[in-house]
Amino acid sequence: MNNMLEIAPSLLSADFGYLMRDIESVEKECRFLHLDVMDGHYVPNLSIGIPVIKSIRKYSKMIFDTHLMITNPEKYLEAFADAGSDYITFHVECSDKPSDLISKIHDLGKKAGVAIHPDTPIENVFPYVSEADLILVMSVRPGFGGQSYLEGSTERIAAVRAKIDEAGADTILSVDGGINLKTIAEAHAAGASLLVAGSACFGKEDPGAAAVELKAKACESV
Ligand code: DX5
Ligand code: ZN
Repeated sequence: MNNMLEIAPSLLSADFGYLMRDIESVEKECRFLHLDVMDGHYVPNLSIGIPVIKSIRKYSKMIFDTHLMITNPEKYLEAFADAGSDYITFHVECSDKPSDLISKIHDLGKKAGVAIHPDTPIENVFPYVSEADLILVMSVRPGFGGQSYLEGSTERIAAVRAKIDEAGADTILSVDGGINLKTIAEAHAAGASLLVAGSACFGKEDPGAAAVELKAKACESV
C-alpha cells in the first residue's frame, strides 16, 4: 500500500488578492498544491483557469495538482500541461474514453488523475486504478469549498484502496471535500494518502500550521 500521507491545500479557499502570499504560507509544510478549475457547466460555479496557473507557476515549485471540474476536459489537457500542472485530474463523468485521456496526459509528460463525483457508483473508477497515477474520491458535491464531508465517503475511499492494493499499484488515493480536524483521521484510515484541504488550511490564520496540525491528526486512531 502507498502509505504516503500528504496534505494538499486547496487554493480555492485562499485570498485571491494575495495568492503568492498564501501559497508561500504552505510551501514549507506541503509538497502538493491543489488547484480547482471550474467551468460553470459540469459544476455550478467558476474559479481559476489557465492564466492563473501559468502565473503562479513562475513563482512556486510546489507540485501542482490540477483538478478539472469541466466538461470536455480533452480539449484543454495540453493547455493545462503547458501552464505548468504536474498532475492533471479529470472527472470520470466527463469522458467517454478515460483511458485515452490518461494516455494523452502521459504523452504530455504529466501525471494523470481520475476523479469521481459522490453520486457516481464507485465501481466506475475501478478500471483506472492501475492506469492512472491518482484517483480522486470527491467527498462533497464538486463546486464549492467549505461543505461537509458526505456520509458514505469513507466506504468509497476504502473500496478504491482495496482495488489499488489488489492491483499492486502505487496509485495515489486522494480525497477532496470536507476534510478537517474532525474527518481527516477517518479518511486516512480508510486509505486516502493525499488529503485535500481548502477551508481547513487557507481558512485559518496560519495555513502552514493548520496543515501540520491536520497531518498529525490524520495519524490518530479512529
Ligand atoms: C470543491 C473542490 C475542493 C474544495 C475543497 O469542489 O474540489 O477542492 O476546495 O474545499 P474544502 O476543503 O473547504 O471542503
Ligand atoms: Zn478539488
